[in-house]
Amino acid sequence: MIIYKQSAALQSYLQKSLPAKSSTGFVPTMGALHEGHVSLIKKSKEIADSTICSIFINPTQFNNQQDFKKYPVTLEQDIYLLEKNGCDILFLPDVNEIYPNGEFSHEPFDLGYLEDILEGKYRPGHFQGVCQVVKRLLNIVNPTYLLAGQKDYQQCLVLKRLMKLINSRVEIIICPISRERDGLAMSSRNLRLSEDERMQAPAIYEVLLFIQQHIKPGNLKYVKKIAANFLKKKDFKVDYVEVAIANNLQPIDEWNGKDQLVILVAAYINDIRLIDNLKYSV
Ligand code: PAJ
Repeated sequence: MIIYKQSAALQSYLQKSLPAKSSTGFVPTMGALHEGHVSLIKKSKEIADSTICSIFINPTQFNNQQDFKKYPVTLEQDIYLLEKNGCDILFLPDVNEIYPNGEFSHEPFDLGYLEDILEGKYRPGHFQGVCQVVKRLLNIVNPTYLLAGQKDYQQCLVLKRLMKLINSRVEIIICPISRERDGLAMSSRNLRLSEDERMQAPAIYEVLLFIQQHIKPGNLKYVKKIAANFLKKKDFKVDYVEVAIANNLQPIDEWNGKDQLVILVAAYINDIRLIDNLKYSV
């Protein structure tokens, strides 16, 4: 695997050394890699001639400075995992490479209601930061495919919207959620969980399954409330337990029994915020 820290060097390599018309798969990450990230690398290797991963902890998408400061860094292990799984190129920029001259401001992206609901509501500015960095990374890497995880369901919709806003022809490939044996969705933030918190964490997946099993056409408020209370009793601070239309993420309280749905949860264990979701197909 070749590691580039500078965009100019990476771009020059991509232009000169990759065969014309060869396809590239791009997996942007913030590091602290786990099997979920690896599943994206593997998918990219299946569909593209070359695979590029980036690791960059993007300051502009953190609305909580403590979360940014405490974001896990495991670079040696990350490089090992990427090498082992056949990633071709790692892009490892520093902050000046992505935001030259400390310039963090940008024209806002019109993300519509996606910015006001669920993650957008609880993490103001987060998706603007995600769009800002992904746009910049896409300009540098110019891939054929962008691989993203369903784990960040709303981010996937935001990225699709971004592609339209910037007239990009990059194809987004969404990969399923990788889970631990007990159902906990893999996440870099899981590294911050203490032993006790780690035992508590799978309750999030339990409530997703609970809602999946109890969902019926008609009113959904009651089942959402039971699920949220279950988490609260287990000492979670709940941001939301929500059911939404799968393709547009509009939250619903009444279900017509026909629309495909997605069940979403965001909750804190102490100061660690975890998110997860489960699709519900009729
Ligand atoms: P990060 O949280 O590192 O995630 C990188 C990619 O891995 C995202 O597409 C995410 O959805 C996917 N991923 C994370 N956990 C997963 C799991 N358990 N199963 C499958 N895929 C999983 O998401 C980001 O970084 C950033 O917002 C980024 C897009 C890199 C922009 O900074």
